[in-house]
Amino acid sequence: MNDLTTEILKTDTNGFQHASDIWRAGGLVAFATETVYGLGGDATNDMAVARIYAAKGRPQFNPLIVHVDSIETAQKYVDWPQEADVLAQAFWPGPLTLVLPLKADNGLSPLVTADLPTLAVRVPAHPQAVELLRTFGGPIAAPSANPSGKISPTTVEHVVAGLSGKIEAVVDGGACGVGVESTIIGLASDPTLLRPGGLPQEAIEAALHRPLAIHSDADTLNAPGQMVSHYAPGAAVRLNAEKAHAGEVLLGFGNIACDLNLSAAGDLVEAAANLFHHLHALDAMQTKGIAVSAIPEHGLGRAINDRLRRAAAPRP
Ligand code: TXA
Ligand code: MG
Repeated sequence: MNDLTTEILKTDTNGFQHASDIWRAGGLVAFATETVYGLGGDATNDMAVARIYAAKGRPQFNPLIVHVDSIETAQKYVDWPQEADVLAQAFWPGPLTLVLPLKADNGLSPLVTADLPTLAVRVPAHPQAVELLRTFGGPIAAPSANPSGKISPTTVEHVVAGLSGKIEAVVDGGACGVGVESTIIGLASDPTLLRPGGLPQEAIEAALHRPLAIHSDADTLNAPGQMVSHYAPGAAVRLNAEKAHAGEVLLGFGNIACDLNLSAAGDLVEAAANLFHHLHALDAMQTKGIAVSAIPEHGLGRAINDRLRRAAAPRP
């Protein structure tokens, strides 16, 4: 999708209201945080989140950070161990992301977490980001607002250079003060540094009165979203299927007869939005196998195929 006119919005009441209306309608708005600009969309809207991946040209469904306006809002979505409270009280709003166990019935799109049982969440410190989140009144999924593989943007010009025509708007919040992404701490088990970032490790260790486990190999950053075993349907998955064999259900794509269709219109953004929901629904049917139509290997098709290949891979 490259045919949008990307509006540049001011950080005034009108700009915030307009950005919030775009989010409510499922559109994408980039906005300044104190670290880098984020590419925001409604974290509860499958199509909006699928469009984030499409706009970035991400070849995989890496889990996204959900941005909220307060600790209270974060607690709606995740379990809240004592260490989360210590760190959030000390450093939120600020350049710290916490990875915590996702609550049941959280209402978020499974694309946000790449279907993981944990959620990365943070309260940004940029006053205009918080104001924007308050105006919208819900959770905003936002990776850095750059095309996949490119440098994170710290000015509105960077955002426009990378994403013009692919997103509805960008709110001009000036230059980002911190300039590097947030520090990511995993709290689903022992406190672990998952990504060094804008908040120093030492400050976190001082607040927790204990050293962090380190998990800083850049290649493992995306590991949770990449693991074969984190979610695979109970049934065997067979790819590039033209029809279902005996004992199989068919997950279709395009104008074909099937049990569930990722997108009858052959739209890859719609297919991405439906992917995890449909896999869960077919899995719940407890069939022997799930056959899946061929998905074109371009645009979001690459991320969908990546995920499907993992679902089809031999089980550990
Ligand atoms: O400062 C920042 O964090 C910026 C601003 C916009 O908030 N955002 C940002 O998002 O850097 P992104 O998508 O570029 O990086 C998010 C990182 C990814 O490496 C992803 O793998 C990791 O967070 N992540 C997200 N959810 C996770 C989870 N449940 N478990 C482990 N890692 C997770
Ligand atoms: Mg990034």
